[in-house]
Formats: sequence, C-alpha cells, structure tokens
Amino acid sequence: MTLAFSKVAIIGAGAMGRGIAQIAAQAGSQVWLYDTQPEAIAKARDAVFQQWDKLQEKGRLTAEAVAGHKSRLLGAASLQDLAECELVVEAIVERLDIKKSLFTDLEKVLAPSAVLVTNTSSLSVTAIAAALQRPAQFAGYHFFNPVPLMKVIEVIAGLKTDPAVCQRLSEFARQMGHTPVQAQDTPGFIVNHAGRGYSTEALRIVSEGIADFATIDRILRDQVGFKLGPFELFDLTALDVSHHVIEAIYHQYYEEPRYRPNVITAQRLAGGVVGKKVGEGFYKYVDGAAQVPA
Ligand code: NAI
Repeated sequence: MTLAFSKVAIIGAGAMGRGIAQIAAQAGSQVWLYDTQPEAIAKARDAVFQQWDKLQEKGRLTAEAVAGHKSRLLGAASLQDLAECELVVEAIVERLDIKKSLFTDLEKVLAPSAVLVTNTSSLSVTAIAAALQRPAQFAGYHFFNPVPLMKVIEVIAGLKTDPAVCQRLSEFARQMGHTPVQAQDTPGFIVNHAGRGYSTEALRIVSEGIADFATIDRILRDQVGFKLGPFELFDLTALDVSHHVIEAIYHQYYEEPRYRPNVITAQRLAGGVVGKKVGEGFYKYVDGAAQVPA
C-alpha cells in the first residue's frame, strides 16, 4: 500500500495530537510530534507507547508491530525539524491568532507541495487560510476524542482548498482505519453543529432547574443509549476547549440565540474545574473514575 502521506508532523501533543500521532504511526507513516512544551511531547509518547504495550498484552498487536510503531513515533525539537514532512496536522490551542501565526511559520519551513491541516473544532478554515501564501494546500481535518476509538474524520475544504488535497486527505483517513466525511466550512462543521443540541440544551435544562447534571447524563446514557451523557462529554473534552467552541460557533452565527453560551461553563472555566484531565469537572475523578454525586 502506498501511503497518501509517509512523513507526517503533528503540532500540539495534547489529548488530540497524541491520538492522531498514534493512528498515523499505526498506518505506517513516520511521525514527528512537536509542542512548545517539550515535556508534553515526552508525556504523549509515553502514553501512546503504553497503549501499544496494552494492545500487545491483549494479543491484539504483535511485539514486532509494536516495535515498528514505536520506531515511527519521534519527537521534534523545533519546527525546522519538520522541513521534509508532506503533511502537518495542527492540534494546538483553539485560538485563531495563534493558529494563523503557527501556519505562517510552517509555510516558511516546509516544501511548497506540503499539505497543512487544522484540527480546529470551530474556527473557520477559510479564515485561517487567509493568512497563508498557499491556501490551496490547506484544509480542515477534524478528528474526535479519543482519536483511536472515534472512527470519523471531517475533511473540510476552505474557499480556496484544492479538491485534490481533500481527496488525498480522505485516502489517508481510510489508511489510518477511519472514515472520512466531507464537511462544509461552516461554524462547527457537521458534528459540533449537531452537538449544540446535545450540550447547550443540557446546560439550559440544568440552569432552568429541571434536572441536575448527573440525572441528565444517566438518562441520556443508560436509557436513551448515548455513549456519554453531555456532562461526561464536557469533562472528557475539557471546558478550556469546549467553552471556546461554544463561543466561537455563537459569534460566527451572528449571536443567534439558540447557540448562546451558558454562564455555567464560563464560571467553571474561570474556576479551573475544566474536566477529567485536571481531576475535576462536573464530576470529581479518583484514579480516573468519575465520582457520581449521591
Ligand atoms: P490540549 O490542551 O490537550 O493540547 C494542546 C497542546 O498544544 C498543548 O500540549 C500545548 O502545549 C500545545 N500548544 C499550544 N500552543 C502551541 C503552539 N503555538 N505550538 C505548539 N504547541 C502548542 O488540547 P486538545 O484537546 O488536544 O485540542 C487541540 C485542538 O484540537 C483544538 O483546536 C481543539 O479545538 C481541537 N479538538 C479538540 C477535541 C477534544 O475533545 N479535546 C476534539 C476535536 C478537536
């Protein structure tokens, strides 16, 4: 099999970057992980290596496959180390100005044929591309958390994206074992737009005193059949990501009332109780397990 991209860089070694690095290395690409916090790279590589070790223990990967995957997941010390990459996937903080500045720097380092993509949840692909010299080589490539388990990737063309770039990205999604879905460059694309109904309405139910968050989760998970309740999902995504997504979609739709953010998430973000990754969100976590209020 010829890989659509054999040399891939992932920028941002957080929750998403590490998952994307994992599935790209599993597909057979050489992967470089870069982050402004060098300790984040080491942590991400350790976490992915542990995943592979566990899969080997369960008999789902051979020792040879694990050794191969590990040899393909490298850290990078600077953007200059990424000069030969054919694809760069950005998974950094959800801020338009910071993403634009990163892509401007990347364009100076990479070959003109390189494809640059953003994993943004809610920002306009076209708005980021407007800062670039080569907007035809730029697209949205939106993964879901946790990346190895969530098998869909939204492929988003900006106004100037070359359709051949989207086709190549879709082929690579399939090579990573995922299902590509073409999405328009509209606020929240498909999934996070549909998700407004799930999360924003759940916050309204709590603020109107109709039910508490744990009850809403229990009903939607156990009775209705969603994998996670909306507040479990907030805790997994983390409010330092999802509250900004809610705000970005609301503003891009010209303050349409049905997308209005809620003070509950704004206050929790300000208080630092952002989710599972810090040990407390809507739920408190002990050894990774949510403590459900009595
Ligand atoms: P995170 O906070 O876990 O990780 C972000 C990483 O980026 C951190 O390690 C940080 O040090 C690094 N970083 C920040 N600025 C940087 C820069 N200028 N250059 C290099 N590294 C930098 O964030 P997470 O959750 O992985 O989200 C990343 C992106 O993925 C965001 O755009 C988010 O909207 C999107 N996303 C998040 C999902 C989620 O469920 N958390 C789902 C789908 C997309």
